Amino acid sequence: MDLRQLINQQPVIGLSPMDGITDEPFRLIQTEIAQPDVIFTEFVSAEGISRGGFKLYDQLLYKPQERPIIGQLFGKDPQSFYAGAIILAELGFDGIDINMGCPAKTVTANGSGAALIENPQLASEIIKSVANGINDWHTDKNALKKLKLKSKLDQVILRNQKYSQLKISSKIKPTLSVKTRLGINESIIDQWIPHLLKHPIDFLTIHGRTLKQGYAGQADWQQIGRVVRLAKGSGIKIWGNGDVQNRTQAQDYLKEFGVDGILIGRSAMGNPWVFSDHLPTVSEKYRCLLYHAQIYQATFPLRRFDSLRKNFLSYAVGLPNAKQLRQKLVHINNISDIIDIETDFLSSTDSQ
Ligand SMILES: Cc1cc2nc3c(=O)[nH]c(=O)nc-3n(C[C@H](O)[C@H](O)[C@H](O)COP(=O)(O)O)c2cc1C
Repeated sequence: MDLRQLINQQPVIGLSPMDGITDEPFRLIQTEIAQPDVIFTEFVSAEGISRGGFKLYDQLLYKPQERPIIGQLFGKDPQSFYAGAIILAELGFDGIDINMGCPAKTVTANGSGAALIENPQLASEIIKSVANGINDWHTDKNALKKLKLKSKLDQVILRNQKYSQLKISSKIKPTLSVKTRLGINESIIDQWIPHLLKHPIDFLTIHGRTLKQGYAGQADWQQIGRVVRLAKGSGIKIWGNGDVQNRTQAQDYLKEFGVDGILIGRSAMGNPWVFSDHLPTVSEKYRCLLYHAQIYQATFPLRRFDSLRKNFLSYAVGLPNAKQLRQKLVHINNISDIIDIETDFLSSTDSQ
């Protein structure tokens, strides 16, 4: 279903963007095991993809079964956001999201991510640039050409389009959204949210923490409920995010706090079943870990396993002998290492 139609028709429970985690192999596993209503990519730098960061386009690879899929941009330069929006639209994304919530120092130090909360003027310019990018792409078939990107980028975009089996005839006008936090040091939703709602966005995701909190403490869902009330009458959907553990809790929160959608992040790590009501057995978790590694190798044959380790460790949560298992998982370098560990551990546990 068309994303715009979907978000207007029903509450959604989606996969939150996680840099270094929700890459293409992760998202493929996720779709196979339990399909979220909507999926976000990891964020990519608007400056990076518009100025020739070819490697970044790996983060934008997706297969048709991941739809509806939203690409997320971060940065601070409105011109790059304009170009980034046209590029993401050309890659066939169903939605384009602007990151105004990342607390990482590497991102906020130069004024991007959650730092935009203290620069509402720039935040406005960025949203307008993305809106213009989407509209120009939709109405002008030469919009991409007019960006005059480095010539090699044309080939990379074509590679991604082929990978995503994009039909050039089906031109989807992406939705526009923002993902943000409550404030910098304390919640300033009474000023920040009405400011954002003045712009032509389809939905707004609010993570119930401040920048200062990072990921510490608890997400404040009362504040998220208040954001819903602030948005009443605006026509803009509000999605909540933070500390949701499973699908049942997401469904309860949809009702309790009146949000139009919920994004689940960390609870999906090593646990793609989070979007279903199924509780995985020990052997299902092992099989999934192995499968994850196989898909990773098939997708990125030249990459080492280092960046997969964070995901491996998540699969160990709640498994018998988790501590010993984690010690082994951090040393994995190839598929046969996983099979050896699996044989050892499954034979020492009742694998059902
Ligand atoms: C490792 C990691 C990477 C993240 N990367 C992104 C990102 O690229 N873009 C974004 O908007 N949020 C990012 N987040 C934040 C999550 O999307 C989400 O807002 C946050 O984890 C709270 O939700 P949760 O409690 O369900 O995980 C990241 C979080 C983590 C833990």
